[in-house]
Amino acid sequence: MNVHHSDALVFFGATGDLIYKKIFPALYAMERRGHLQAPVIGVARSDWTIEQFRARARASVEKHDGFDEAVFAKFQERLRYISGDYGAPATHAALRKELGDAAHPLHYLAIPPSVFEKVVERLGQSGCARGARVIIEKPFGRDLSSAQALSATLHTVFDESCVFRIDHYLGKESVQNLLVFRFANTFLEPFWNRTYVESVQITMAEKFGVEGRGSFYEESGAIRDVIQNHLLQVVGFLAMESPTKTNHEAIRDEQVKVFKMIRPLKPEDIVRGQFRGYREEEGVARDSKVETFAAARLRIDSPRWDGVPFFIRAGKCLPTTMTEVLVMLKPPAIGKLCAGQANYVRFRLSPDVTIAIGARVKRPGEELIGDLTELKVVNHPRGDEMDAYERLLSDAIVGDGTLFASQGGVEAAWAVVQPVLGLVTPVHDYEPGTWGPSEAEKLGAGICGCQSPVWLLPDGEDEESK
Ligand code: BG6
Repeated sequence: MNVHHSDALVFFGATGDLIYKKIFPALYAMERRGHLQAPVIGVARSDWTIEQFRARARASVEKHDGFDEAVFAKFQERLRYISGDYGAPATHAALRKELGDAAHPLHYLAIPPSVFEKVVERLGQSGCARGARVIIEKPFGRDLSSAQALSATLHTVFDESCVFRIDHYLGKESVQNLLVFRFANTFLEPFWNRTYVESVQITMAEKFGVEGRGSFYEESGAIRDVIQNHLLQVVGFLAMESPTKTNHEAIRDEQVKVFKMIRPLKPEDIVRGQFRGYREEEGVARDSKVETFAAARLRIDSPRWDGVPFFIRAGKCLPTTMTEVLVMLKPPAIGKLCAGQANYVRFRLSPDVTIAIGARVKRPGEELIGDLTELKVVNHPRGDEMDAYERLLSDAIVGDGTLFASQGGVEAAWAVVQPVLGLVTPVHDYEPGTWGPSEAEKLGAGICGCQSPVWLLPDGEDEESK
């Protein structure tokens, strides 16, 4: 870890959606905690004044609970704005000037892939990259080869130790909790393997559609947008072996090992869906075949997980917004005691955080039969905890890469999805407000006695019981 603190924060793409929705609130929260020390310089093409930039920051943070005028006044004093073409030398000369004495700037690149190479080159030529770190946002390329090319571009100017690849799922408390819950609890280890686990199911459901991001989504689709990154990170934490230490290399190495043991997906391992109405969205082709839903079945070739299917599904316009993991255990030998669903461990990762164990307790009365109940072990109320972006920005400022994706991991994750990118499989329509195309239910069929995914619904109800 290189230990200096970043002394200026530069945001390319400063008028964009990401800065508005995620970065301003994160910076403001840091200001409120007294954690923000550096100037914040926005760079974008729009011909804005500093007043407009400040107004945008205010509009972003004002709607959050606990807005404090005094904190904002302090925050807005840090803001600077440079307007210009991303690739123009003049823009970077202006930035160099604005950086003044800052010796360790942190550059956040929230810009389209088409201008990426030029910006990196100009940062190098202008001297703005000296002593600097750089943060890049997913998607890290569009496939394996473009991810490698992107990394090579970065390395022309930045050392790998100065590159921070944000996958905001790694910054979520609930996702980190998977790691802690697994490795801080001895009781889990004896059953966390192929002997007792029947399947693992991960659902990332979103009730909303593409929300004006049609043209972005056309380039992306659910596999590139959330499966190759967010959901594989979750698989990594669930499936990895215990790291020998808690430093970032050890954790990231174990994750990469998991990604490398996941078999590359075959067309029969994936079901793609598109919600009816997607093609009418702005920026979307009328004959688009891009998926707004994907369900996949992963196999991990490791001694621990051999033969255990990992089912993943993610989609827009589903009945609810939540991300949940369900680790289903095999049924007990005396099936009569527990007709129906066996034990499971359920992790709700968002919007609330729950860890629950599905267990059987005796039904009152004469029969010897177990009814399903949940032992809820954690249920965090939302308090003053750090949002993922605040956490990750704070880490990057002090040079801690533990919760950032590694290039090795990014490439291994692309290798998993690479064979099913594009139009290799058909896209099935589904009605908004449903759980995607019915074909997704069939993914589990035929694997070593495993039934179709159960796909638990919120609060532990299984879909079929609805
Ligand atoms: C982003 C995707 O990375 O993650 C979005 O581009 C998705 O499509 C979002 O909605 C979900 O993040 P969160 O933190 O709201 O679960």
